[in-house]
Amino acid sequence: MIETILKKYVNHGIEHLYDDDPTLYGLLDEEYQRQANVLTMVAASSVVDPSVLICESMVPVNVTAEGYPGARFHAGCRVIDKIEQLAIDRAKAAFKAQFANVQSHSATTANQVVMCSLLKPGETLLGMELDSGGHLTHGSKASVSGQYFNAIGYGLDENEHVDYDQVYQLAREHKPKLIICGTTAYPGILDFKRFRKIADEVGAYLLADITHIAGLVIAGLHPNPIDHVHFTTTCTHKQIYGPRGGLIMMGKDYDSPAPDGKRKLFEVVQRGVFPFFQGAPNLNSIAAKARALEMVLKPEFKERMQRIKADAKTLAECFIEKGYHVITGGSENHLVVIDVLSKGITGLVAEKALEDCNIVVNKNRIPGDQKSAFVTSGIRIGTNSLALKGMAAEDMPMCADLVHKVLSNIKPIDDRTYEMDAAIKASILSEVAEICQRFPIPCYPHPNESVETFDRVYEKSMRAVASS
Ligand SMILES: Cc1ncc(COP(=O)(O)O)c(C=O)c1O
Repeated sequence: MIETILKKYVNHGIEHLYDDDPTLYGLLDEEYQRQANVLTMVAASSVVDPSVLICESMVPVNVTAEGYPGARFHAGCRVIDKIEQLAIDRAKAAFKAQFANVQSHSATTANQVVMCSLLKPGETLLGMELDSGGHLTHGSKASVSGQYFNAIGYGLDENEHVDYDQVYQLAREHKPKLIICGTTAYPGILDFKRFRKIADEVGAYLLADITHIAGLVIAGLHPNPIDHVHFTTTCTHKQIYGPRGGLIMMGKDYDSPAPDGKRKLFEVVQRGVFPFFQGAPNLNSIAAKARALEMVLKPEFKERMQRIKADAKTLAECFIEKGYHVITGGSENHLVVIDVLSKGITGLVAEKALEDCNIVVNKNRIPGDQKSAFVTSGIRIGTNSLALKGMAAEDMPMCADLVHKVLSNIKPIDDRTYEMDAAIKASILSEVAEICQRFPIPCYPHPNESVETFDRVYEKSMRAVASS
């Protein structure tokens, strides 16, 4: 690649860090090695492309730019405005939205902006309960959403699918001002049309938090809520494979009247993000969002999303075959939620034992869970990172076998600790090491690979992408 001023700047930054702060450099290097050597099956994460990563380290970080493109409270925003507008246009294109705000620092803030802009403290919202697969920010007592508002929770029916009849009943009974549909540990498809019908009947606003399924939505593999709901929120670091951050988007209702009757709904969101919730935006993160949102419209992104879905479906089938209770009886998106307590293991012990074998999943509460959030009765597995590495449905039995090998060879001592035969553990660790070497993270040189080899492979893969 040709030498450019930005490339020199990045190289200089790395060299300076290496020479001047070996402690921090060493820790960053250690984390890089860890990521390259574990089988990550975390539903809530993904891996960013190095071109996204580098946008996060770029010069927009030096600019303070309160306000929005064309209407800032600081000078020096001529170029920044173009970058933010590019991110807005790309977010709108990706989700077929009429309006997008790209400044939220996270999906949590995006949700809080919507809630706090519409509701006064003490008013009612209706969201999915945590144990049923909802998120903390949808009304849990542990978050602002459940502390400042009168949060009512809906759950799952006897088949462990969203109980729309209960949503309807609760909505009629409590007359919420806001209904939230969106999940963090639910393997099913959401019926946004049905939610909207309920919201309209009780005069509620509707928020879809698609943080977990944003990529499937973009690829047309999950219904797009944008025109069915008033507000759509998402983070950018799970299925968009972008930087840590959030988006708030709106479809055909974007210019409907706001609750105060004076402004339009999108104006409420704009003011809700800035100045109500945030000050200056994180502009290098917005540049990284723009980069990630450009990549999601490429054919290879859709192929990855198809793999994500096929992988999760197969993984769920494998665990069911092995006798596990899989919540909802399968997976229609990217994640699989497994009841491990019915095998005598808590979620915490399962998570620890798997991590000790270099397999990363997370403990998760399941419907009717009697264990605390730190212990839990389940685990949640996701396929975002497996699919990125090119692992397809036929590779999933191998992943399920590995997880099962760990879980069926541990002896839990209590809710938090376990024992495992050292020889079995060593054999699993060596299988995982072999898989990590066979399926490296694309464009991240594996630590066992020389940088020169990586440069050749990387350039070859970039040429292949350019000519496709
Ligand atoms: C549905 C949902 N909403 C919001 C969040 C919070 O996202 P963030 O970490 O960007 O605040 C999560 C995180 O996992 C989530 O699953």
